[in-house]
Amino acid sequence: MPGLLLGDVFPDFEADSTVGRISLHAFLGNSWGILFSHPRDYTPVCTTELGRAAKLSAEFSKRDVKMIALSLDSVEDHLGWSKLFQATNHKADILAYNNDSSCNALPFPIIADNKRELAVKLGMLDPDERDKDGMPLTARCVFVIGPDKRLKLSILYPATTGRNFDELLRVIDSLQLTAQKRVATPVDWKPGDNVMVVPNLSDDEAASLFPSGVTTKDLPSGKKYLRYTPQP
Ligand code: BEZ
Repeated sequence: MPGLLLGDVFPDFEADSTVGRISLHAFLGNSWGILFSHPRDYTPVCTTELGRAAKLSAEFSKRDVKMIALSLDSVEDHLGWSKLFQATNHKADILAYNNDSSCNALPFPIIADNKRELAVKLGMLDPDERDKDGMPLTARCVFVIGPDKRLKLSILYPATTGRNFDELLRVIDSLQLTAQKRVATPVDWKPGDNVMVVPNLSDDEAASLFPSGVTTKDLPSGKKYLRYTPQP
């Protein structure tokens, strides 16, 4: 059985989370979404990742991307790991790891998948990492979901390899640009760099779509497929 494929409608689901019961599609509304999974609460790599995700949350909002995390533990564990205890002003581990006075609450929910139902349904288990009872933990999945609720990107890292959230912002910039314009982004592209004209556009179509100009690089094959244009 193949897992979720690019272009599939991302399955809607209801789940408990740190902000109450969530229905994924309603939570996303007409925004983009990024769902990222974690193996377990109170683990080192996950704590650093969620801290970084919290720090970058304004960047995701700027791009109209709603963030939602998932980990295999209960809502109670998630809150104990991530919240600000108002009465004592005591920050739990993720916020304390950030050591940042501007971040007093985790700015996105964490889904409680303590029964592993979503981990199984969405193909997120890491067979090599197990808990003390021998049960597999969740891998580090990233799903980017478009406003049409279709899967635009998926990345699957094993539990032992932390992700780079700056890279996730970079790929979202590429996804959002290429959803609007007939371009592709080359290796190591950053916003503002030149982009490539997609192969299925003729030179005439490219000239009219990209009035700032198209530059073609000469190649040994003589084929004229490496066509750059300034980012539209
Ligand atoms: C971690 O978050 O540090 C971690 C979790 C499970 C397996 C390995 C590392």
